[in-house]
Amino acid sequence: MVGSGGAMLRIVLLNPKGGSGKSTVATGIAAMYAARGFNTALMDFDPQGTSSRWLEKRPRSRASIHGVEAFSRAIGVTRSFQLRVPPGTDRVVVDTPAALQPQSFNEHVRDADAVLVPVMPSDADIHACSRCIGHLLISGKIKRRENRLGVIANRVRPNTIIFRTLMRFLDQMQIPVVTTLRDSQSYVYAGEHGLGLHEMNPARVQPELAQWDALWSWLESRKPFVQPATAAGVAGV
Ligand SMILES: Nc1ncnc2c1ncn2[C@@H]1O[C@H](COP(=O)(O)OP(=O)(O)OP(=O)(O)O)[C@@H](O)[C@H]1O
Ligand SMILES: [Mg+2]
Repeated sequence: MVGSGGAMLRIVLLNPKGGSGKSTVATGIAAMYAARGFNTALMDFDPQGTSSRWLEKRPRSRASIHGVEAFSRAIGVTRSFQLRVPPGTDRVVVDTPAALQPQSFNEHVRDADAVLVPVMPSDADIHACSRCIGHLLISGKIKRRENRLGVIANRVRPNTIIFRTLMRFLDQMQIPVVTTLRDSQSYVYAGEHGLGLHEMNPARVQPELAQWDALWSWLESRKPFVQPATAAGVAGV
């Protein structure tokens, strides 16, 4: 493994709306990093186990990814032991479940260096996304100035009214739109075969790869997030 030679980054995919693309993007990011020589871990908090199943299907010939089935509760070990990643891990990608309650957001975003909210262009998804971002920001769990929150417009069909509505909405939210990912059967194929877009025939996924370049650049310009000390923390309470 080449490794990043830098600090570990923790990247969390979060949106309580089911089917928005969390697992597709989480597995795609993990594969992208692994294929580029980073020691990568994929942590699956979803009892549906979509990311874990993807990892099981991953061909042995591909760069390995360390899987953590965080949704299961191991007996006889502490939670932190269960959630550990191997020493030298460069990138941890975290997949979270649908219907995650706002009171559980903090558990996932607390230590995140990047929080990505995938959103699809539909009325219901736009509404759910606004609630999700609202919960993250209003509760103060994430502050805009931390620059660790980004949105991914997913399953996009350009030149549709609903896509323009989505982009207008995201503009109003003033949260960076890290990339837009087009609606493509390549994602379905990648999901079924334990692959990422970066591991498929480049000639077939050229337009998709260009969209992932923007995601790569944004992720790699994140700085490790250091949680500011709270008054209670400073006082050692
Ligand atoms: N850009 C895309 N183009 C085509 N299909 C996509 C795209 N993104 C996701 N999909 C498909 O949409 C479905 C839902 O995606 P995914 O499982 O990633 O969503 P999710 O947010 O993880 O869902 P859940 O909330 O149930 O965990 C999957 O069948 C996936 O293959
Ligand atoms: Mg999922």
